[in-house]
Amino acid sequence: MSFLSLGFRFGKPFLHALDAERAHGLTITALKSFPVRSPAPIDPVLTQRLWGLTFPNPLGLAPGFDKNADVPDAMLAMGFGCVEVGTVTPLPQAGNPKPRLFRLVEDQGVINRMGFNNDGAQAIAARLRSRAGKAGLIGVNIGANKDSSDRIGDYEQGVRLFGELASYLTVNISSPNTPGLRSLQSRTELQELLARVHEARLQLPRPVPLLLKIAPDLMEAELRDVAECCLAGHVDGVIISNTTLAREGLRSPNAHEQGGLSGAPLLRLSNRVLARFHQYTEGRLPLVGVGGVSDADSAFAKITAGASLVQVYSALVYKGPGLVSKINSGLVRLLHQHGCRHISEAIGTQVAAHAAA
Ligand code: FNR
Repeated sequence: MSFLSLGFRFGKPFLHALDAERAHGLTITALKSFPVRSPAPIDPVLTQRLWGLTFPNPLGLAPGFDKNADVPDAMLAMGFGCVEVGTVTPLPQAGNPKPRLFRLVEDQGVINRMGFNNDGAQAIAARLRSRAGKAGLIGVNIGANKDSSDRIGDYEQGVRLFGELASYLTVNISSPNTPGLRSLQSRTELQELLARVHEARLQLPRPVPLLLKIAPDLMEAELRDVAECCLAGHVDGVIISNTTLAREGLRSPNAHEQGGLSGAPLLRLSNRVLARFHQYTEGRLPLVGVGGVSDADSAFAKITAGASLVQVYSALVYKGPGLVSKINSGLVRLLHQHGCRHISEAIGTQVAAHAAA
């Protein structure tokens, strides 16, 4: 067991006695201070090539954990196949007033209304530049400032600044905590966004892969529109999903808090949206499944619902850093159990069941 896993096991009662955002800050400080031991070697059945990149395993760190690119290498050393930093906005932003991050222990969920707090694009780009040449895939999730007069222009700036620093870029139009942001998912706005972002990308010396991250709360017709726009609009992949505004069957005292819900209560909804999106796009775009992954079974469910890659955040709060290698080794076992010689053989095998769930 690594030093960090041991630290989490003994430190968890202390961390969970603190306000959730303070505990997160201490975790980032610990990750900066203590070396993370690399986990067991990766099994080739998990390795995939997508968008010209080699993913050593399908498990990525979802954005929101390392918003400022403070600890991407520590997270890669923990065993993640890829780390997505951000959301990064052009200007630094304080985010919403605290408290704005809440554990839902009884539901194994989290509610946040952080509001894109981040150090701003220049500071984060400088951090990424300082690790240039190091191994490991790092995606950069880009967004718009709350007070921006040209939101699409903010995404264009993100493409220009991070296009050469990131393994891939994610255009995040699905945070529920920036008023009006999710309207960029509507057909007309999305078409304009994708056209302008693509134009900005064409100016780059190399064509960085571009992914779109969507909400799980889209109506069926909206989801179909987004699928059509993505197929027509030079999008290389879609990340499904961000947090939900829905509240169903929660037991935790914090369940009434405003913001986006993530973790276990999001699993079924995000799997359904993932599977339906896979149907609407007829499997023609690689998808990244995120929402409620907490063990190998839930990661495998995302893959059978149509995801080529999966991401996790909230479960780390409850299960700690050991979760990463547990999920990866569990996936190898599940693939063997299902008679798959490679992860690609499992992708989308249960789409219909998840779409109807
Ligand atoms: C997030 N998430 C998020 N997503 C994003 O695209 N940009 C962001 O800045 C953030 N910030 C953020 C902060 C916090 C505290 C949480 C819990 C989540 C959403 C995240 O990336 C993911 O889509 C959801 O949390 C669902 O995955 P999990 O947490 O259920 O594994």
